[in-house]
Amino acid sequence: MKKHFLIICFLSIYLIINAQTEAKHQIYKQIPIVYSNIIPDDSGNIVFNNAKLSNLNPFYILGNIRINPKGSEKGIVFDFQNTDFKGTIYYGLLSKEPPKYPQTVFFNSNSPIRKGKAEINIAELKGRYDIAGWEETGKAKLGYRITNYYGKIIYDGKINIEGTGPFKTGLSIIEGPFVNRVSEHSVHISFITNEPCSPYVEVNGKEYRSPNKMMNMKGELIHEIKIDHLSPATKYKYTVHFGDNKESHAFLTSPLTGTRKPFVFAFTSDSRAGQGGGERDIYGTNAYVMKKMAALALKKEVAFFQFTGDMIDGYSSSISETNLQYANWKRNVEPFWHYIPFNIGMGNHEALVNIFDDGTKYGVQVDKWPFTTSSAERIFADNFVNPTNGPVSEDDSDYDPKPNQQDFPSYDENVFYYTYDNVAMVVLNSNYWYAPSTSSIRETGGNPHGYIMDNQLKWLKETIENFDKNSNIDHVFVTIHTPAFPNGGHAGDDMWYNGSNSVRPTVAGQPVEKGIIQRRDEFLNIVINKSDKVVALLCGDEHNYSRLKLTKKTEIYPENYFWKKIKISRPFWQITNGSAGAPYYGQQQLPWSESVEKFSTQYALMLFYVDGNKITLKVINPDTLEDIEEVIIKE
Ligand SMILES: [Fe+2]
Repeated sequence: MKKHFLIICFLSIYLIINAQTEAKHQIYKQIPIVYSNIIPDDSGNIVFNNAKLSNLNPFYILGNIRINPKGSEKGIVFDFQNTDFKGTIYYGLLSKEPPKYPQTVFFNSNSPIRKGKAEINIAELKGRYDIAGWEETGKAKLGYRITNYYGKIIYDGKINIEGTGPFKTGLSIIEGPFVNRVSEHSVHISFITNEPCSPYVEVNGKEYRSPNKMMNMKGELIHEIKIDHLSPATKYKYTVHFGDNKESHAFLTSPLTGTRKPFVFAFTSDSRAGQGGGERDIYGTNAYVMKKMAALALKKEVAFFQFTGDMIDGYSSSISETNLQYANWKRNVEPFWHYIPFNIGMGNHEALVNIFDDGTKYGVQVDKWPFTTSSAERIFADNFVNPTNGPVSEDDSDYDPKPNQQDFPSYDENVFYYTYDNVAMVVLNSNYWYAPSTSSIRETGGNPHGYIMDNQLKWLKETIENFDKNSNIDHVFVTIHTPAFPNGGHAGDDMWYNGSNSVRPTVAGQPVEKGIIQRRDEFLNIVINKSDKVVALLCGDEHNYSRLKLTKKTEIYPENYFWKKIKISRPFWQITNGSAGAPYYGQQQLPWSESVEKFSTQYALMLFYVDGNKITLKVINPDTLEDIEEVIIKE
């Protein structure tokens, strides 16, 4: 009897240990093999040096905030399902004959959010306040702004209303429509609806539909519709039909490459939230400054807007919080994006991370996994519609620990190029597979801020070579969030790290061969020495404007630099403009400071006037409309 009991005990213990080992093995398998020292503990927690993966659960996430309000007798009711949530909803109608750039016209009253609920009284918006004409048609578009108890703006939304009392919410475009991937013969129109529908876009009497619909986690539908067979350099009106609603705007297709007609494009970056309250921080983004950037760019009739990194505060471990911040950025410039493309590159603040809580302020952070569903790269690609002509990933590089298996995040839509007439824009990502905790990278694995990994560099080299051979392309711009030469704010990182070449990625426990300054030099060698067409590096990260003319005389190395040095074969521009609203940095002294021809801490919109071979740069403060400088950068 005793013997049997012992056997059962041993068997039970064996089965428990076996089950635990199997569970651990399953968790272990989910951790990308490019990381190291990140393991499951005996309780099934994923840990790094005993620090557990933190599991924050913020309330301000898109899933909780962009809710579908319900109709009521007097108007519409928001129920945020959180009795602790207090605040205010401001609201107003959009005009029935909307201006070119539709805006909410705020009403003279507001609705308190009490115990997570608020009701907007539409019936009050009648008579002289009924600019939407709902009393006659039973239809209106309402704009609303959610603020919390402290007056911080959390989200600006829009929703269609139906009825004259009782009211209900109708099928609505709650984000967009946006014009993307503008080329000579096609564009992509994207938008999100609050309910399932089968919309189409009408251009020149032809209906375009999308076979693919993507439903996000909230059950909203993301639509992306390609409009093709268009003529180059032609203005088209487009109408989005959804249910029995429609909305019209216009776009202009690109001219054929090499047409060499004059055009303008805009550049800025770094619009994450600033101090000062109000619209300088619409949950994660400086909407005040960025909206002025967009409005001025449209006034100057730019063909496209290039924005390279740090749209939002980011650094969240929550996908839905990141989505809320992206939604705020997009919604803010949406009226302008109805007409021209905003082409977006990634920066460090687009980071979406797994955080190991080791008791320090930020913990130890690495790019979130699974990479295919949850990485910063994937969520960025889900939020924007960029070209898909970049490299695949860092798989199959020399340091890939397991060929034939995807171990790295994708470059899809975060590294790419596009052309417009005689200009090519190459958009890079120096925050790919980004691990923000630089000092822990040797232990965790990951890529430090500013480092261009091997496959991306190889793709850049091939892409530049192809443009060199293309006689229709005269000018190539390379845009990357981190400057090769920081000038104010980022001397301690970017591609300099106070002159330390030791910084580099670690893959599966192995630091890679080349350090950050060696990699910077390989990068410069491609864009300066191997090609005459690359006009400038367009960078951000530093929250100021600086124009640096790099020449062979510019000092670019730290003292006692032991590795091979490059010679700069021709004068070359690095223009940094991270002045779209993030908190400012002043100028710092660095070896190349004498080559800095202009430095400003004003908000700055860069406008490139391309006229055949000549390129003039005009820089304007979009807040005050003060001219910062005008300089011919190529003639
Ligand atoms: Fe940055």
